[in-house]
Amino acid sequence: MAFIPKDKITDIQSAADIVEIVSESVLLKKAGKDYKGLCPFHTEKTPSFTVSPEKQIFHCFGCGTGGNVFSFLMKQEGVSFPEAAKTLARRYGIEIPTQTMPPEERQRMDERENLFAVNRQAADFFHHSLLNSPAGEKAMTYLKKRGMTKETVDAFHIGYDSGWDNFTNYCLQKEISRELAEKAGLIGSKNGRFYDRFWDRIIFPIFDVGMRVIGFGGRVTDNSNPKRPKYYNSPETPLYNKSRSLYGLHRAKQKCRQSGIAYLTEGYVDVLSLYQHGIENAVATLGTAITPEHVRLLKGYVREVILVYDSDEAGIRAAQRSIGTFRKENMDVRILVLPSGYDPDAYLFEFGPESFTDAAEGALSAMSFLLDAAIKKHGLSVEGKIRILSEMKGSLASVHDSVARSLYIKDFADRIHVDESAVLEQVREVIFENKKKGLSRQHYPPKQLSDGPLSSPALRIEQQITSMMLQFPEILTEIHHRNLIEDFENETLKSVCQTILKHNNGSDGRVSELIGLMDDKKKRDMATSLAMKEDAWTREGCLSLIAQFESIRNRRKTAFLVQKMGAADDHEEMLSIGNEFQREKEIQAGIRQ
Ligand code: CTP
Ligand code: MN
Repeated sequence: MAFIPKDKITDIQSAADIVEIVSESVLLKKAGKDYKGLCPFHTEKTPSFTVSPEKQIFHCFGCGTGGNVFSFLMKQEGVSFPEAAKTLARRYGIEIPTQTMPPEERQRMDERENLFAVNRQAADFFHHSLLNSPAGEKAMTYLKKRGMTKETVDAFHIGYDSGWDNFTNYCLQKEISRELAEKAGLIGSKNGRFYDRFWDRIIFPIFDVGMRVIGFGGRVTDNSNPKRPKYYNSPETPLYNKSRSLYGLHRAKQKCRQSGIAYLTEGYVDVLSLYQHGIENAVATLGTAITPEHVRLLKGYVREVILVYDSDEAGIRAAQRSIGTFRKENMDVRILVLPSGYDPDAYLFEFGPESFTDAAEGALSAMSFLLDAAIKKHGLSVEGKIRILSEMKGSLASVHDSVARSLYIKDFADRIHVDESAVLEQVREVIFENKKKGLSRQHYPPKQLSDGPLSSPALRIEQQITSMMLQFPEILTEIHHRNLIEDFENETLKSVCQTILKHNNGSDGRVSELIGLMDDKKKRDMATSLAMKEDAWTREGCLSLIAQFESIRNRRKTAFLVQKMGAADDHEEMLSIGNEFQREKEIQAGIRQ
């Protein structure tokens, strides 16, 4: 099913009308060339959700979300791309030939479908036995004692396996293939006998964002038997991979989108507990550290993640590790530190949801969190301060944006009462050492840690250029010829422009198709917002904007080289920068290419 030929996607795209599709779930009103309505992805009182029939895209000027007809359906219905494409194909009478699928692909997909089916049956069977068997009553009592309501049990389809071969027998009775159930990790065999892997456990089905059951977690109802681990989880199967799955995302996604924020916890019960206390934008990793895949998954729904950790040493270390992963993936993260010994579930049980959300408001930025942890560990004696500086200088040096870095350095110096210039010197040293080791080649322009507010004149110009490229494709060859995009400071804009250039070799590529090529939410939202603008571009106007950009860039480039020269370690380095400077001047004067 997942395989849809490319030309069919194009067919669907040209047949589908975004106004028609959006109108099915959003009340739209004509406003000039566009349509406006209340945004389905965040709460608002005045309409800022805009749909353009001409460009076949939407963009909400309130929450910043945008996309084409596919992204709209995916967001609105919480479905995958192939599913959205199929829905549209059905609606516009376009046939998708499944026979064209290669046989191995077909087979692999059939197996996945069968595994989904057996998981679904198992989840239903366990849920039923929690609610209807005498042993299930005992399990239910346990859940109730922990504050869980029937509503939560239903919402997350929680179950219970009351005997050691109940599900095995069910498979026999329903003619469910035993190999399949084994492959799904539901039954095992010992001494020639088959048994239920989740026997006598409360069962938490794990869903993907398309609401399908990909795996299970099972918890014992009493912790007294040391031979039985508290949790037993599905093994890796063709459907389940713990470093790519987040528990609860299937339920949390809507609220995540609306708020732009997700709470990331460590346990099943934490997600359920938060949900039950009205905090529905919570997910959990499943007995594993946070991976880049987890972060990328979250990127599709939120702009910021709040990590919830307990303040004991293990929690702090885990948070420190995670921060690096978020940073590499360019996702904003804050850390909510709960008192030692409290996970979100225990915290809510004792202090209630208001206290939790209050605490969350004060969640620390990554840098403050790392600094707090270092201060706590080393203290503020002279020795302590030296250790803190030595521990933090790497993090400070890794902030690529020089303005952000100098702000952090100032803040840091204030917090531990040391001289700012001393910190600066140490951080510089790290930067140069990294450079020597080739760890971070110093690129021009310096890479940003994240996209800050676009307020500086340079960034405003980059926005205008992107907007121009989206609205006036005639200018693309000029842009390509002059290599403008390489020098963009803003990474998101740069990447948007690269996509535009790459896919517009002279053809008239529609904006909505370009948007469809952008998997990253940040990129897509930025592109739709700029494409929605109605500027009357002329060739002269474009060329003058380009000239303006080039002159700002040239000034920045020379200033950068001058600064670099001032910071050079030795004569040799200075000479080489001097040569670079000379070359740059000649290029700018048009003497050299
Ligand atoms: N976990 C696991 N295997 C274990 C222990 C834990 O896979 N033997 C995973 C589970 O996903 C669990 C998470 O790690 O939800 C956090 O573990 P823990 O804090 O021990 O459990 P809680 O979720 O707090 O569950 P409870 O409150 O019921 O003890
Ligand atoms: Mn717990």
